[in-house]
Amino acid sequence: MQKAIGVFDSGVGGLTVVKELIHQLPNEDIIYFGDTARVPYGIKSKETIIRFSIENILFLLKQEVKLICVACNTVSSIALPAIKNHFRVPIVGVLSPGAREAVYATKNKRIGVIGTKATITSQAYEKEIRMLDPTIRIVSQACPLFVPFVEEGWLNGRAVEDVAKVYLTSLKKAGVDTIILGCTHYPLLKPVIRKVMGQAVVLIDSAKQVATEVKQILANEALLEAKSHRPDRAFYVSDGPAWFSGLAKRFLGYSLKTVTKVDPIV
Ligand code: DGL
Repeated sequence: MQKAIGVFDSGVGGLTVVKELIHQLPNEDIIYFGDTARVPYGIKSKETIIRFSIENILFLLKQEVKLICVACNTVSSIALPAIKNHFRVPIVGVLSPGAREAVYATKNKRIGVIGTKATITSQAYEKEIRMLDPTIRIVSQACPLFVPFVEEGWLNGRAVEDVAKVYLTSLKKAGVDTIILGCTHYPLLKPVIRKVMGQAVVLIDSAKQVATEVKQILANEALLEAKSHRPDRAFYVSDGPAWFSGLAKRFLGYSLKTVTKVDPIV
């Protein structure tokens, strides 16, 4: 038997990545940690995001995971470059897979990037895209109200549409044909974003690519779980387990029976 894959996010958004991991790696044990006591990360300083990220990684390492998947764009943009190489376990972020897919998908070489304030201010996606193709035009927009909308379950309707129209104006004006959903909460808002941007727009949610990358790393390191293994999935949060398990249904399609409250610092 192999060890589990560790996954963390500031809260519930990382479940969009868990869903894809389960789809592509159905036999793997997964340990998820959502830092619900300290969410949102997207409006916090670099120092704070780095500190929280290290604490979350240490918590997962205590559970003896074989790989850590950072299912949060904010952490991937702000903290990962600084801390990734300090740990022996492979750590996979969501940034490069999403950027690669967007560069591959765009036909008119105009890409929109939406995310939290921290992710957009870091310009991490721009840097990643420019490395792949410096001729691409990039329009970025922070959408800080999207996360609370998703967490409140307001996935459609007038209010969220009006906000989306305001946020997406510059992307629409620039005629982007591809948008990176640079926050793990945003895939739940795909229908609204499509309604505002038009059905032809390509929406990149990096979950699929991230899961593929995790699978490749595990295969290369001979760490894949046996096909006969019956997987165990454990979900931890730093606050509000009942709230988390209710919200999980929106992300995974089913509610979670057991969600355990822990303090990642202890
Ligand atoms: N899920 C986080 C991300 O992908 C956003 C939520 C937050 O601000 O903590 O960036």
